[in-house]
Amino acid sequence: MKLLSPSLLSADFGNLQRDIEMLNASECDWLHVDVMDGIFVPNISFGQPVVKHIKKHARKPLDVHLMIMDPGRYVADFKEAGADILTVHYEACTHLDRTLHAIKDAGMKCGVVLNPHTPVALLEDTIQICDLVLLMSVNPGFGGQKFIENTFDKVVKLKELCERKNPECLIEVDGGVNLNNASKLYASGADVLVAGNAVFKSQDPLQTIIDLKR
Ligand code: DX5
Ligand code: ZN
Repeated sequence: MKLLSPSLLSADFGNLQRDIEMLNASECDWLHVDVMDGIFVPNISFGQPVVKHIKKHARKPLDVHLMIMDPGRYVADFKEAGADILTVHYEACTHLDRTLHAIKDAGMKCGVVLNPHTPVALLEDTIQICDLVLLMSVNPGFGGQKFIENTFDKVVKLKELCERKNPECLIEVDGGVNLNNASKLYASGADVLVAGNAVFKSQDPLQTIIDLKR
């Protein structure tokens, strides 16, 4: 599969509705929504009230990436705010299995996110529950960072794990994705690419979305 999930972290927060409408009219598949708490990651972005407003305008599924400690506390809130897909960090959950089941039981697709330092092998006993796994290709917290090349190897390892234990599970990659690495990522086995700066800092975001998926 070749899906694209533009990250609203790079959108103009003063003109969110305008930017969401641009994405509605584009070839993108999901809207990636980055929630940061200032503790799990050094940055603070926005929370449920803003997600609710994004949902009002979005005509595509909301792919909500929680960069917060103990995300299990907020599963019901993000369901209510309109998340369709909810991903939580392996590094932020003490009871990951419980949190993933809670997300599913609430009626959302669930996913685990791995930081660049976290090995794919740690998903051996979790992959069965996941609808997707998100590999961070930068250290989370900010848009516009440099892509970590080791991610290609991790995609290949994750693809092997998925084929062995859960072939339905999607592989998503987030951070520093651009026109130079997108096609190689899809070819390595990625199903969904997140792109923030590559889309929103481009002269022609609509065309860039098409080019990234090509
Ligand atoms: C980083 C976020 C990313 C970020 C990607 O912590 O999770 O989703 O917005 O932005 P780019 O594509 O600019 O690296
Ligand atoms: Zn993200």
